[in-house]
Amino acid sequence: MTQLNRHLLIINGANLHLLGKREPHIYGSTTLSDIEHRLNQTATAHQVRLTFIQSNHEGVLVDALGEFGLFAGNECVDGVIINPAGFTHTSVVLRDALLACNKPFIEVHLSNIHAREPFRHHSYFSDKAVGVICGLGDIGYDMALKWFLTHLYQSTQDN
Ligand code: DQA
Repeated sequence: MTQLNRHLLIINGANLHLLGKREPHIYGSTTLSDIEHRLNQTATAHQVRLTFIQSNHEGVLVDALGEFGLFAGNECVDGVIINPAGFTHTSVVLRDALLACNKPFIEVHLSNIHAREPFRHHSYFSDKAVGVICGLGDIGYDMALKWFLTHLYQSTQDN
């Protein structure tokens, strides 16, 4: 894989644009743009391009996956880091779209969904994810990126 082709999608579902203001005792005080900025710094150091998508509408997320040509087996995207947010527990549609992409994906949640209300315990994504990171706050996104750097891109640099 050439370095120029290194490209990951970072997808965030409904209400995650409110990070920092939304229930900070659960989701923390870091904003989504803080997280994106931090991930970009790490990715740039490893010659990886990140594309960030956040939407409150599941159809928009499905269409965004299609726009990247993922359904047509686009080789320009290597994998996906996704926090489906509320769609985690409801969206067969987004699950189907992600599976149609046939790309490795890591599911991230800021909170520990298993320690919360019973309706949050089930995810429509976890059984197909490479891995699931939950309950570690926003650092979970960095850990997911680290997996792609070390296992997919086999980067030797620390980060
Ligand atoms: C979340 C957990 C979901 O249950 C919730 O609907 C969210 C955020 C998390 O990151 O902890 O919006 O995905």
